[in-house]
Amino acid sequence: MKPFYLTTPIYYVNDAPHIGHAYTTVAGDVLTRWHRQRGEDVFFLTGTDEHGEKVMRAAEKNNVSPQKWCDDLVESAWKPTWSALNIANDDFIRTTEPRHEERVQKFLTGLKDAGHIYLGKYEGPYCVGCEEFKLPGDLIDGNCTTHSRPCEILSEENWFFKLSAFVPAIIKHYEENPAACEPASARNEVLAFLKGEVSDLSISRSTFDWGIPVPWDTKQVIYVWFDALLNYATAVGLTDDPTSEGGKKFAKYWPADVHLVGKDILRFHAVIWPAMLMAAGLPLPGKVFAHGWLLVGGEKMSKSKLTGIAPKDITDTFGVDAFRYYFLRAIPFGSDGSFSWEDMAARYTSELANDFGNLASRLIAMIEKYCGGVIPAVAQSPELSEALAKTVVEADAAIVALDFQTGINSIMDFCKKVNGYVTLTEPWKVAKDESRTVELNEILYNIAEAIRALAVLMHPIMPATCEVLWSSLGADKTLGTIAAQKISEVATWGQLPAGSQVVKGAVLFPRLESANEA
Ligand code: MSP
Repeated sequence: MKPFYLTTPIYYVNDAPHIGHAYTTVAGDVLTRWHRQRGEDVFFLTGTDEHGEKVMRAAEKNNVSPQKWCDDLVESAWKPTWSALNIANDDFIRTTEPRHEERVQKFLTGLKDAGHIYLGKYEGPYCVGCEEFKLPGDLIDGNCTTHSRPCEILSEENWFFKLSAFVPAIIKHYEENPAACEPASARNEVLAFLKGEVSDLSISRSTFDWGIPVPWDTKQVIYVWFDALLNYATAVGLTDDPTSEGGKKFAKYWPADVHLVGKDILRFHAVIWPAMLMAAGLPLPGKVFAHGWLLVGGEKMSKSKLTGIAPKDITDTFGVDAFRYYFLRAIPFGSDGSFSWEDMAARYTSELANDFGNLASRLIAMIEKYCGGVIPAVAQSPELSEALAKTVVEADAAIVALDFQTGINSIMDFCKKVNGYVTLTEPWKVAKDESRTVELNEILYNIAEAIRALAVLMHPIMPATCEVLWSSLGADKTLGTIAAQKISEVATWGQLPAGSQVVKGAVLFPRLESANEA
């Protein structure tokens, strides 16, 4: 089976990451961890977009060279943020790396040789914030609608890509493969755009030099988006000789299965990118999925509007795993959502600390108190095991379809069901009657076994917490690592072996300081 290959956008390094960037990257991490636990070979790519005027101006403002600016910011802010958020990417591509630059140049030369590139003149508005040539319909009173700022008017002799020639084939592609652009609202927007006037695309700039030189005209640099989109393919060996290592990697991984993007950059991914691939005779990605925006005050959260919140501002209070959980749980993937401190605190307390964390700590405490800290004999609970089987099917279907909210809800519904089982069976009362030891042991086994399954299902979403829980169940010593547990086997009841030693671990979700509580 072809490995599952997922990408995030490569982010501009004009500034440090905020929670909007983290939203996409965490979603990608959860999805790829889920696929890994399905037993699939996975390749998860993220990285940074370092060329173009936006990054160049940020460097100028700080009186450093663009390269130094990028090097410093990537090392001091981008990579550390992803590792703090426990992002398990397989590669990190920077567009200033030789492996990328060389392949981009080779690709462009190939398109020129095939007759898809010509010299022309671009005259019109350009938004440096978006790094985008704008159409009249994209502007309100001459202002970019995303950045609420006037565009610059360019008049340049540039190299053009014959984008318009591919429009009919792209329309056909989406009509025949609706899953190639999701959600449906995004696909409809793209189709409406494609059915309007689509002109050719200027793919070079001549008024500054922070970019990859056009190989045959080195006074020009390649347009930053043309350069950036190619990262998805250069990272896995685009243009390399098929017999080389890069060429073999390309054959193994390309095309990408999912490009995760925010809806702000849908058109680049769903119009320009497939045209570039078609021009080169390469297969198209399986899916471009456009998620919504995190809003602040009803507008897209962004650093340029000074509404950017750093992930650390939230993880310092709630921890990394609650951060990873919250946005995917609270906002339907594909819709916009407002970040609210109060809502996050409320969900943290009710869903994570009470429903999930307390369930685990009560179970461990009861096993210690009533069973000498040892998991009792394997028992059966048709009620719990049937509910679990249903949960796994539902959660798996939803998550592979990028409906994280439904997937997490079904796991949390199972968690509620287990809490209901505890309330109903009242093990602390059963424990008072010595003649009911067998029953007590059965109840405690069933709770422990249900928590074993919850830990595995929640692991892609909250890896560190679930690892702690896994070892406190003693499962690491008997069942192997949590990451090795397969989604397809999680519903098989009775896996936690009798005799496993439980260990009281740290509280999974500590109580919030009251000032932050809802
Ligand atoms: N460099 C380009 C992408 C090139 S991909 C070939 C770019 N970079 S960016 O730094 O501006 O990041 C854009 C992406 O960050 C969005 O598509 C989205 O994934 C994420 N987000 C940035 N702000 C966001 C919100 N306020 N809300 C949700 N996601 C947001 O565009």
